[in-house]
Amino acid sequence: MNNRIAVVPGSFDPPTLGHLDVIRRAAALYDQLHVLVVHNPGKEAMLPIAQRLTLLEQSIAESDIEGDVVVAAWSVGLLVDYATDVGAGVLVKGIRSQVDVAYETPMAIVNRHLAHVETVFLLPDPAHALVSSSLVRQVASLGGDVSPFVPAPVARFLDTGAHPA
Ligand code: PNS
Repeated sequence: MNNRIAVVPGSFDPPTLGHLDVIRRAAALYDQLHVLVVHNPGKEAMLPIAQRLTLLEQSIAESDIEGDVVVAAWSVGLLVDYATDVGAGVLVKGIRSQVDVAYETPMAIVNRHLAHVETVFLLPDPAHALVSSSLVRQVASLGGDVSPFVPAPVARFLDTGAHPA
């Protein structure tokens, strides 16, 4: 297993500035980074996977993120199967609070048992510590301005009203 390749998995529904912060810092730590849009059956989605993929690609392209960053989607099988397929030995997750620690810890332990894939947690930039996709979804659905919380391509997309009500 090559630990120079890492995966940043998530729902990214929609991508936020907090996600971009984690992606930027992870891209600086690993030779190759796979940003993976994963369907989370436990959450009701706002955006189709293909739209999240497009918004992530645009957001990364318009950012100062450097390095070998691949954006992909995964909806069949285990997340660690994707990691193993691309030779990644590490998953990178952002941790904002004790709630995130409680949510992420069992998944990290299961993923390590399933495929010896380690999980690395990055603490957020304090500027993004309170930003979540679920809050962005709620503000957007009620007609609020989400531009302080999301990359410009996401703000433009949500502002057009192209998203589901
Ligand atoms: O952004 P999210 O919703 O917190 O991301 C959670 C996600 C999609 C990374 C998580 O649900 C996941 O890893 N799903 C993949 C399915 C899987 O492999 N499950 C078994 C080990 S946890």
